[in-house]
Amino acid sequence: MTGLCDGRVVIVTGAGRGLGRAHALAFAAEGAKVVVNDLGVGLDGTGGGAGPAQHVVDEIRAAGGEAVAHGGDIATADGAASLIAAAVDTFGRLDTLVNNAGFLRDRMLVNLDEDDWDAVMRVHLKGHFLPLKHAAAHWRAEAKAGRQPVARVVNTSSGAGLLGSVGQGNYSAAKAGIVGLTLVASAEMGRYGVQVNAIAPAARTRMTEQTFADTMAAPAEGGGFDAMAPENVSPLVVWLGSAASAGVTGRVFEAEAGRITVMEGWRPGPTADKGARWTPAEAGETALKLLSSAEPPHPVYGTR
Ligand SMILES: NC(=O)c1ccc[n+]([C@@H]2O[C@H](COP(=O)([O-])OP(=O)(O)OC[C@H]3O[C@@H](n4cnc5c(N)ncnc54)[C@H](O)[C@@H]3O)[C@@H](O)[C@H]2O)c1
Repeated sequence: MTGLCDGRVVIVTGAGRGLGRAHALAFAAEGAKVVVNDLGVGLDGTGGGAGPAQHVVDEIRAAGGEAVAHGGDIATADGAASLIAAAVDTFGRLDTLVNNAGFLRDRMLVNLDEDDWDAVMRVHLKGHFLPLKHAAAHWRAEAKAGRQPVARVVNTSSGAGLLGSVGQGNYSAAKAGIVGLTLVASAEMGRYGVQVNAIAPAARTRMTEQTFADTMAAPAEGGGFDAMAPENVSPLVVWLGSAASAGVTGRVFEAEAGRITVMEGWRPGPTADKGARWTPAEAGETALKLLSSAEPPHPVYGTR
């Protein structure tokens, strides 16, 4: 049987649980060799253990696939460098990086401690940047050695980063930052054969089961399509991470249940140019006139 990712080596960060686990299993089912990274931390990023990553490796091997565990922290230079090395040393190459690891520290802004800001920015934004940087260095070296990669990066943003989410100022800022990082990485790395896209997923995991318990519940036994299963997000991630997605880069997709949506981002709307400096009163009058013909923004999550 041939798979979409036969011969490819794929890293998935935070793959011990939830969406990352589903992605790792789905890549392996399409023939990829997988590096399963997970620090095994709690829901708020504290604690840690090798159990979750090794468990997913065991699941992949039991199904006849190839996988190796990596237990490093992707938001540290050592963790990110050793992650890329784990792929190259174990399987001889790296083709796809799926940045997925992260955790939450939700608070209203007035109650948001600096530590909770730093921890969430660190794990999501730095935890995307560092593996991306080390993978990029590997792929650039490959390209310069005459072995042009067919490389793919799939980053994980969130509806919170695209539209905002009440009680998640730190998380929304980090996930919006990941979109900016995706656009720059796509533009910078295309010449080395690297495509970079992002997803905004929604699924039932430990991260969401308390917040969205009502809308995310699994159907009763034999109850049909389990819409919020994390496994429903993985097929798009596998395709984006495969050679088959040639030509698709710098894009953001929402993926939830059976639905895939291309998210269309910032672009110039109504505009006016005086050709000279406005007075504040003129600027205000002009801004209001432009707003009257502009698309209203989507509501921020949690405001309706
Ligand atoms: N579940 C959703 O509906 C949803 C929605 C939008 C975005 N996301 C994003 O999807 C990704 C996966 O979330 P999930 O819902 O599967 O959560 P999850 O908590 O089930 O899994 C996240 C995994 O990341 C690991 N991790 C955390 N910090 C790490 C670090 N420093 N190094 C290595 N591993 C680390 C954790 O141990 C955990 O196993 C996250 O980036 C999340 O923000 C999820």
